[in-house]
Amino acid sequence: MVKLTGLKKIKTAVFISGTGSNLKSLIKFSKIKKSPISIDLIFSNTSKAKGLRYSNQFNIKKKILSFKRLKIAEIEILNLLKKEGIRFICLAGFMKILSKNFIRKFNGKIVNIHPSLLPKYKGLNTHIKAIQNKDKLSGCTVHFVTAKLDSGKIILQKEVKISKKDTPTSLAKKILKQEHKLYPAAIKKIFN
Ligand code: GRF
Repeated sequence: MVKLTGLKKIKTAVFISGTGSNLKSLIKFSKIKKSPISIDLIFSNTSKAKGLRYSNQFNIKKKILSFKRLKIAEIEILNLLKKEGIRFICLAGFMKILSKNFIRKFNGKIVNIHPSLLPKYKGLNTHIKAIQNKDKLSGCTVHFVTAKLDSGKIILQKEVKISKKDTPTSLAKKILKQEHKLYPAAIKKIFN
């Protein structure tokens, strides 16, 4: 695992595809003195990702690359990560699956946040599944990324109660609020 060396923060890239609310919470966290990471690159597979606006707002480099040609895109990202000295990657609502090769190259240094209590509900539509199954609890998980989808070692989880009135939208909102706390907490746990 990556360890903090001296007082320098670990240069980190956040990969997004959408709103970027987790990205924003990670940026805010990274600015705290005690944060082990700095956010130095925002990567998106689409120019439509709203979260890209945080690049201008917080003066962080951004890169957009379509994943239509996965191999070529990944080679380009790997080169960029190397050039920028990036040593840690946070996936935050990144909707593409990284190749085994990419994950191996960044072994143990990629984490993801997932809106369910893994191993329950891997993949998409987690809130719909939790409500359809009449679960009383859902939540979010931060885990290491391995070649198997949403299956790497769990770092931290937070439970959220599902009320009878909850819809997938209201549940997503409740869980997202917890995600914004859980992601920084998980990163602290990794490095401290
Ligand atoms: C979050 O619910 C995250 O768990 C999932 O995608 C959503 C991203 O939200 N992987 P945001 O773009 O960070 O607002």
